[in-house]
Amino acid sequence: MGVSDKKQFKALSAPKGVPDYYPPQSAAFAKVRETMVHQARLSGFQHIELPIFEDTALFARGVGESTDVVSKEMYTFADRGDRSVTLRPEGTAGVMRAVIEHNLDRGQLPVKLNYYGPFFRYERPQAGRYRQLQQVGVEAIGVDDPALDAEVVALADRCFRSLGLTGFRLELTSLGDADCRPAYREKLQEFLFKLDLDEETRRRAEINPLRVLDDKRPEMQEKLVDAPLMLDHLDDKCREHFETVTGMLDDMGVEYTINPRMVRGLDYYTKTCFEFVHDGLGAQSGIGGGGRYDGLMAQLGGQDLSGIGFGLGVDRAMLALEAEGIELDGTDSRVDVYGVAMGSAAKHRMTVLVDELRKAGISTDMSFGDRGLKGAMKGANRAGARFALVLGDQELENGTVAVKDLEAHEQHDVALEELTTHLAQRLG
Ligand code: HAM
Repeated sequence: MGVSDKKQFKALSAPKGVPDYYPPQSAAFAKVRETMVHQARLSGFQHIELPIFEDTALFARGVGESTDVVSKEMYTFADRGDRSVTLRPEGTAGVMRAVIEHNLDRGQLPVKLNYYGPFFRYERPQAGRYRQLQQVGVEAIGVDDPALDAEVVALADRCFRSLGLTGFRLELTSLGDADCRPAYREKLQEFLFKLDLDEETRRRAEINPLRVLDDKRPEMQEKLVDAPLMLDHLDDKCREHFETVTGMLDDMGVEYTINPRMVRGLDYYTKTCFEFVHDGLGAQSGIGGGGRYDGLMAQLGGQDLSGIGFGLGVDRAMLALEAEGIELDGTDSRVDVYGVAMGSAAKHRMTVLVDELRKAGISTDMSFGDRGLKGAMKGANRAGARFALVLGDQELENGTVAVKDLEAHEQHDVALEELTTHLAQRLG
């Protein structure tokens, strides 16, 4: 189609349930993620970069086929080679796959890894529930030490607090392990099968009775009041593990409440499990969660090592900041210097000048198109620049540029060849 016969196209929107983050809000988004990653680094977690899609089998085996995430929410498709692949719905299974594949667990333990990025779940979109969600996560693999549980929980707490958030709660429980959970599971099933349950709930009670405890319907909650709880059926070693974790959190000053009815949406959890719940977010109040996963590595074909980790919701942290009226610092100013050129010769020189400044590490933008001086100066203000550089025919002839200090409202002519040094000094 030629340029002359322009057609009217309908504007497109992002897919349903997929948020965009654009300026100025996107700066806050990046800051949230950076703050969390920085905290993870301070605790010795190293970056790992993982694929966005994996073999579907990884999630079916790793996350659990009875979970909503795997049975209803995965973006699964056949690629052109007819392999079934899935956009990652969460990060833990992928980390374990990579650790096993690259023998990262053959060195010093624990292996402490940090990741961030998008995850995909075909959930019903609503406020705070997206189909592309962003997490910052950590996994500490290879040592079943309650000190690691306490470290990971305290780290998540610190991630949120270092953003300035205060309106959240930490809920904690223990889900037992392969030694004590089966007996409890039977007890719970015995209790559930005595109740008058609808068909679907009965099926759930057969496959994953713990998940029935998460039924939000008031009539179900009533029926479940006397249900046996895992926390009352831990064996001695799981109880001791949990008590050590809570004792350490107490001494670190990390506040929590015990929620023995917590049900995590993924099947791999054992022992310590936790969720961060924000009270200002309505129904989608979980801003982060995690726990220990003792059998996962073996289940994925690796050694029988345990691990613990978390995923913190970056989208939800953004909503929590908004709910608490917190604006993160340093999100408005874009550049230090802004070039304004009048006329084509000046524009040519300014383009080169701006490039020199950037090479010297000075953040610089300039006015494009044919804007008048007034419009261009508005651009300088909008960019949050400290200095505007004005270059016209007169300055070109003199070999100078007018440097306007937009804070002090004063102006000097500076020789073009001294500009970089001059600005570096004044910004230093
Ligand atoms: P998760 O609880 O499924 O855990 O997700 C972690 C966090 O991601 C949630 O607390 C929430 O903030 C955010 N999130 C989840 N789904 C959505 C959604 N649809 N829209 C917006 N935010 C969402 C995991 O994913 C585990 N892999 C965490 C983990 C790591 N456990 C051990 N290691």
